[in-house]
Amino acid sequence: MSTEPNAFEHFLQRHDEAAWAQVVNELLPLTHEVDRNATQIWFAFFPLALLRALEAADDSAQLAQKLLLQGKYYLKDQIDTSHTFLYGHRFWPEVKQAVSAHADSFKSTNNAPLTDQIRVVARTVAAARKVDESLLVGITAVACMTIAQVGLAAFKRTPGAGALDKRELRRAPEDVLRARAQDDSQGLFGFLRTTDRRWTVVWNEHEPTARFKMIEGQEVASAAATDKRDWSQVEPRCTINEGPIPVQCRSASCGTCWVGVLGGAEKLSDVAPRERKAMRLFGYIDTDEPRPIIRLACQAQGGGAVSIVIPPWNGVFGKYLRAQQAEQEQPQSATVEAGA
Ligand code: FES
Repeated sequence: MSTEPNAFEHFLQRHDEAAWAQVVNELLPLTHEVDRNATQIWFAFFPLALLRALEAADDSAQLAQKLLLQGKYYLKDQIDTSHTFLYGHRFWPEVKQAVSAHADSFKSTNNAPLTDQIRVVARTVAAARKVDESLLVGITAVACMTIAQVGLAAFKRTPGAGALDKRELRRAPEDVLRARAQDDSQGLFGFLRTTDRRWTVVWNEHEPTARFKMIEGQEVASAAATDKRDWSQVEPRCTINEGPIPVQCRSASCGTCWVGVLGGAEKLSDVAPRERKAMRLFGYIDTDEPRPIIRLACQAQGGGAVSIVIPPWNGVFGKYLRAQQAEQEQPQSATVEAGA
């Protein structure tokens, strides 16, 4: 079997991290609210620039060690499961088929923007499933990025089955949004409470027991540690008695505890300068937003119920990627200067 990239793969290869960021930005207004944060979180969880750096390294294992990468950071190891937190995951089998068919029939003369191609595939699946196109946009973008990272052959090789049970499959997007927006009742005289209010943190919307309580003002990671089940059996980065969110330093120094916030980001505390600086260094997010959708769980403090998702890996790569990018840009500016 030929391992030569097909025309669609060549087309995808022309899109770097910045081009993809623009594609995602253009698609967001067309994406159903239920998957707007989830889509952005997924793209933050699987940065293309990091994969390209690992591929370009003489010794990728050595680079992974240097960048302190831990856990499952390769998308190729989780093609069918990396996106279970998207509502659109339920359409994965059809999306996978439709994107594969699109890639197979793609002609090198096709110059339509990637955004338009994602919409065309999303529309096809939406029509077949008789659902709104906006529910398919995020997951279709995820499928295309997955091909960009793992290649079409590997993408097609996995079974492509969805991972949701019947109860989950029946949930309407409005039900999911309603559940995310719901704050805990604080009892009859709850309005009198100020500091001891308790909020639910859901960390896997498909699993009824994947939740813990967080006291007003408590860090999310500290609240997670009240769950004494042995999560190290499920996720090797977890430590016994520390809960389901992997942690090490608890002081914004290691980057282990990053999480995505599917719902309720506005109820967490503002990002303090220390967290902001650390997030940029780690490479997780670079934003001035006071309450972004990627946070360090050891720093973000609760002020209401939230729904989060825990990434399958962690590392410290922001500084490295920025230095690499500066290095790549240097010869070009030197040439320009020399020619000036
Ligand atoms: S546990 Fe180290 S940054 Fe949060």
